[in-house]
Amino acid sequence: MTIPAQATSSPEAPEALLRVEGLTKHFPIKKGLLQRQVGAVKAVDGISFDVRPGETLGVVGESGCGKSTMGRLITRLLEPTGGKVEFQGTDISHLGVAKMRPLRRDIQMIFQDPYGSLNPRHTVGSIVSAPFVLQGVQPEGGVKKEVQRLLGLVGLNPEHYNRYPHEFSGGQRQRIGIARALALKPKLVVADEPVSALDVSIQAQVVNLLDDLQEELGLTYVIIAHDLSVIRHVSDRIAVMYLGKIVELADRKSLYESPMHPYTKALMSAVPIPDPRRRGAKTDRILLKGDVPSPIKPPAGCRFHTRCWKATEICKTQEPPLLELRPGQQVACHHPEGVAAAPEVIEVTVAKPAEEPAAESAAESAPEAEAPSKDDEAPEK
Ligand SMILES: Nc1ncnc2c1ncn2[C@@H]1O[C@H](COP(=O)(O)OP(=O)(O)OP(=O)(O)O)[C@@H](O)[C@H]1O
Ligand code: SF4
Ligand SMILES: [Mg+2]
Repeated sequence: MTIPAQATSSPEAPEALLRVEGLTKHFPIKKGLLQRQVGAVKAVDGISFDVRPGETLGVVGESGCGKSTMGRLITRLLEPTGGKVEFQGTDISHLGVAKMRPLRRDIQMIFQDPYGSLNPRHTVGSIVSAPFVLQGVQPEGGVKKEVQRLLGLVGLNPEHYNRYPHEFSGGQRQRIGIARALALKPKLVVADEPVSALDVSIQAQVVNLLDDLQEELGLTYVIIAHDLSVIRHVSDRIAVMYLGKIVELADRKSLYESPMHPYTKALMSAVPIPDPRRRGAKTDRILLKGDVPSPIKPPAGCRFHTRCWKATEICKTQEPPLLELRPGQQVACHHPEGVAAAPEVIEVTVAKPAEEPAAESAAESAPEAEAPSKDDEAPEK
């Protein structure tokens, strides 16, 4: 998807539509008669990012890493435990129902399950009309006319106004969900796995529909998916999550061609090569060992260290901060790919240009830099 002209033409970064800072959601675990809290599921554990107007931010990560929780936090369907969500410069982190109501017009969510997210006892007409009724909005020409226009917009027959969800296929139901989300002309749409429940052939239709609607209506998307091919197709920038944290955030090209976090590299190594000329090319697929650790007691230091082939002592004790290691590419790793030395060493080297211990540091870190494969030097095209 392309960022509209006004979002890219300015030399300065455009004002963020959504700004997330240190966002946290810990679900309490309670036990016993008194329901005392004995622990917490650290579903989202301190994430920060911006979403610019008109762009699509893709969010990927293994099942259970906190993607849906993050989506529900930024649409304020969930109350954060900590951190901040700003929409158009307003802090919405703890706004009550009444104060959130006008903002609900601007922030909408498309849900993962096209079967479970539509009330089977309501007609399509009443499902897509609901946002107008709830917000007390009277569109020009009446609600029915506007709903029929929306159904047409998402490629459904406006005549189907009086039908029930069970009379539609999965792809058509997802379109109904999209029509409902777009009813009030939102600014930000968070789509949680919008195509994962659909057949591959239908997936492309829905992805293209989202793409067309973005251009037509100037929408900004946060699209959550675990399918890396879908994410590659739709996203301008991509955030990779692991156990409640963002481990890498970069533009699509950098992330797919030269991932810097070992976890991203492992994810990317599993993506099929779309170029038919390189179809037979050997790819070094990295198989991650072990299961994702529990978000109730995430590993100390870097959360990925229990599965990372590059882990050293520091990884077990010190959490790596998310740092911008290349322009526009933020990575949280002590031994990132494609960098001769660890981030801390880079900072020291920059601060003391006259000294020469860099050779020593580079020698120390060389084995890690070389350890896995060399796809960084072999971009796909
Ligand atoms: N309401 C809740 N109460 C307690 N724990 C929850 C709740 N919702 C989510 N979790 C836990 O938080 C963690 C993150 O869940 P989440 O649904 O955000 O993951 P996800 O990345 O969307 O996974 P998937 O790809 O399977 O949809 C999981 O361990 C999950 O069990
Ligand atoms: S910090 Fe260490 S364990 Fe974590 S991803 Fe980087 S190398 Fe691997
Ligand atoms: Mg989910």
